[in-house]
Amino acid sequence: MFKDYYLQGQGGDPPAEYKGRVFKLSQEYPTELPPAESYPWLKIAFKNGGPVDPAAYLQALLDYGLEGNVDVDFYVQDNKIRKFYHLPWMDWNTEVASDWPGTDGREFVHGLTHEFDSEGNTFGEAQHEFVDTWAQGYVNDRYAFGVGQVWCHPDDPAPGALNPDPTGLNSMPDGSFVIKLLFSTVNEQELPTVKGAFTWDADIYVNKSPRERNAGPLSKYRRALGKVRLIQIDLQVRDRRSLTGWLLGTFGYDGRVRADTPWKRMVPLGLQWGNNPQVTYAETCSGPNGPCNFDKLSEQWINRQAVVDLATPPLSFNHLGYGGRLAGPVDNPKSSCMGCHQTAGFPAVPILPEFGPNGALLKLNSRTHPETSQSLRMAYFGNVPGGAVFSDTQLYSADYSLQLAMGLQNFASVRCAANARAPRPSLCTELDGWAGRQAAAIKDLLVFGTPGPGGAPLKPQ
Ligand code: HEC
Repeated sequence: MFKDYYLQGQGGDPPAEYKGRVFKLSQEYPTELPPAESYPWLKIAFKNGGPVDPAAYLQALLDYGLEGNVDVDFYVQDNKIRKFYHLPWMDWNTEVASDWPGTDGREFVHGLTHEFDSEGNTFGEAQHEFVDTWAQGYVNDRYAFGVGQVWCHPDDPAPGALNPDPTGLNSMPDGSFVIKLLFSTVNEQELPTVKGAFTWDADIYVNKSPRERNAGPLSKYRRALGKVRLIQIDLQVRDRRSLTGWLLGTFGYDGRVRADTPWKRMVPLGLQWGNNPQVTYAETCSGPNGPCNFDKLSEQWINRQAVVDLATPPLSFNHLGYGGRLAGPVDNPKSSCMGCHQTAGFPAVPILPEFGPNGALLKLNSRTHPETSQSLRMAYFGNVPGGAVFSDTQLYSADYSLQLAMGLQNFASVRCAANARAPRPSLCTELDGWAGRQAAAIKDLLVFGTPGPGGAPLKPQ
């Protein structure tokens, strides 16, 4: 059994006065591949690896993700139409490197994890301080089957078992689907368009400043019940007709839309099925802050009206990422949905070139000069086929699932540590071997072709 929430049974449980429902991980993953449904998005035809009517496709994804889940307040194991599931090992989660280990883990009301902090002015001019994002992903039965294969032995995960066919790519089955709800601590004074948003209570940080929290001690990460508002919904589906095998799309909340429920006031922002790896930054954007003409980005659809409605000052609820590629308003604006997600695998790698050693060496600065070093950057905006690794430093693909990759990393951070309890999972032994081989490969490269005594080749060390 996987844990439900952060420090469950170790001081993280709800206080005695809490009378509400407590989050339970939906973890009865199917052990046989469930039959595919006649998914509503299959009605929309494809051309050149993308849907001919992306807006309708995106809407079909949202409708499927909400069906039966809204009625049960997203306690998704109770969904009367089809059960949904959660990914394990997000209870102990280190999402942001500067945060204290594990503290981003699931809270006990809805199992939300802490994500990217949005600094002042991310959403609009009236937002002066940092706001926190809290989010949760819900996967359908086909996706859950893959997850269950990897985590079949909870104390000894097998990242290569996503696809039980050893001759196939390490991929999720066709029809795998995720809906992700992203909530923010932003309020109406800071972002007027959040008026009337769907709201949850959640057990979140009392201290809103990441800088203060990071200074420690751990007690700075104290949590208490507070309000969070739904501002973004992400969707992700495996559809074999797509260029990459996947489509990722997103909706943003706009309280000005005339509709009777907050769900209907979610505005489609865009859909991506590829990154257009050959379109450089300079071809689409005229400077570090645009303007960008994204006509050349043919492997996505952007709702142009929403760019105007939501991202014109005083609002800056922007959904254009690197070079005009799709990214969510609460995502890092120098990235893209598919750019980040294609890196998913084990071991984890940096999701953006800025975060990696080569990016540091080349002094990449996406704020001032996003147009430089395209030969490195565009690798992060490639079209990795679903189920293949992004980098040759990875052993296994997690097929665009960053929660799967992150769960494995979280597991390793606790179970592979020197003082971890025995027995040692095979994943840890493999990781040790990996580290040794990587170090040796770098060493060998530095002396490759160097003549040894008498001009002979150097003996491998
Ligand atoms: C800056 C990198 C980044 C960008 C850009 C990004 N994501 Fe993610 N996404 C993540 C990470 C990291 C996770 C896993 C952690 C989590 O969910 O808490 C994730 C999780 C998800 C999940 C849950 C399932 C999974 O794969 O883990 C969905 C669905 C998702 N993202 C969709 C999107 C969509 C749609 C977009 C674009 C609108 C997007 N993401 C943009 C980094 C990114």
